[in-house]
Amino acid sequence: MKPPFLAFLIIGFTVSPLLWAQDLDAGKKIYQVSCMACHGKTGTGDKRMAKILTVDPVLLDIIHGLASQKPDSELLSIVSGGLTMMPAFNKLYTPDQVQSVVYYLRTLQLDAQTKKLPGKKKRVNP
Ligand code: HEC
Repeated sequence: MKPPFLAFLIIGFTVSPLLWAQDLDAGKKIYQVSCMACHGKTGTGDKRMAKILTVDPVLLDIIHGLASQKPDSELLSIVSGGLTMMPAFNKLYTPDQVQSVVYYLRTLQLDAQTKKLPGKKKRVNP
C-alpha cells in the first residue's frame, strides 16, 4: 500500500469522528445554556417551567413526544425559528450551532431509546 493512500485512510477514520465529537460537545454546551431550563437535563421537560409558561408539560418533552419522529430538517427549523412559546434561536446561533444542538438532542433521544430496550420492563412511553 502506498503511503499517501494509507495516510488518506488514517485521516478518513480519525478526523470524522473527531469532528462529530466536537459538534456534539458544542451542541451539549448550547443545550445546557439555552434549552435545559425548559426541556430539562435529559430533554423530558421541566415541570416547573411548564407551569410558568402555562403549557402542557408534554410539550416540553422533546424525547418521547413528536420530536423523536420529526426529521432533522423540521427540528432545525423549529429551533431556528421558534414555535409558539419557544423562542427562535437564529439570532443567537449560527446554522452550524443549531445543527450541533439538534445532533445533541438526537443523542438524548437515542439514550432514552436504549434504556427502553427489553430487559427493563417499565415502558416510558405508553
Ligand atoms: C422558554 C422555554 C424554551 C426554551 C428555552 C427552549 N424551548 Fe424548545 N420548546 C418550548 C415549548 C413551549 C415547546 C412546545 C411548542 C409547541 O408545541 O407549541 C418547545 C418545542 C420544542 C421542539 C419541538 C417539539 C415537537 O414535538 O415538535 C423542539 C425540537 C425543541 N423545543 C427544542 C429546543 C432546543 C434545541 C432548545 C435550545 C436551543 C429549546 N427548545 C429551547 C420551550 C422552550
